[in-house]
Amino acid sequence: MKFILSETLTTEEVLKDFNEEKSNLIPMLQILQTKIGYVTREGVYAIAAKLNVPPAEVYGVATFFAQFKFEPSGKYHILICMGTACHVNGAREVLGAVERELGINEGETTEDGLFTIEEVACLGCCSLAPVMMINKEIHAGLTPTKAIKVIKAIRKEEENES
Ligand code: FES
Repeated sequence: MKFILSETLTTEEVLKDFNEEKSNLIPMLQILQTKIGYVTREGVYAIAAKLNVPPAEVYGVATFFAQFKFEPSGKYHILICMGTACHVNGAREVLGAVERELGINEGETTEDGLFTIEEVACLGCCSLAPVMMINKEIHAGLTPTKAIKVIKAIRKEEENES
């Protein structure tokens, strides 16, 4: 599947422009996540070696910040808005329906690596509530049934491609 970026980029390539300054630790974690999709174990060890610090120190910094992920996201990253407008318009029901449809909970990825569900705060289009965003595409005015339709359409597209 083409969404596994780490198949094409090595950790060394991603980190090659950084020197051994300890102030590079967070930028290195950020670029690792951007280019590979998450903070890999291999990446943590490579950063530790480059900065001459224990891997535990790199893990310590990475786990402190919520922005860093330690597992790959699915090919389709489903962000379900839980901001006030979406919440009062049924976002919780939408989330529940998507979770049941995919057989995973918020924060998890399906076994086939296709879908990850994540709750987010306001996506900035409250008048269209409730909304979810899948890979930058907004789906608005959702009901549980509409949300499931969107998921089923993606699944069908994927099946047709394989
Ligand atoms: S509260 Fe959901 S888009 Fe603003």
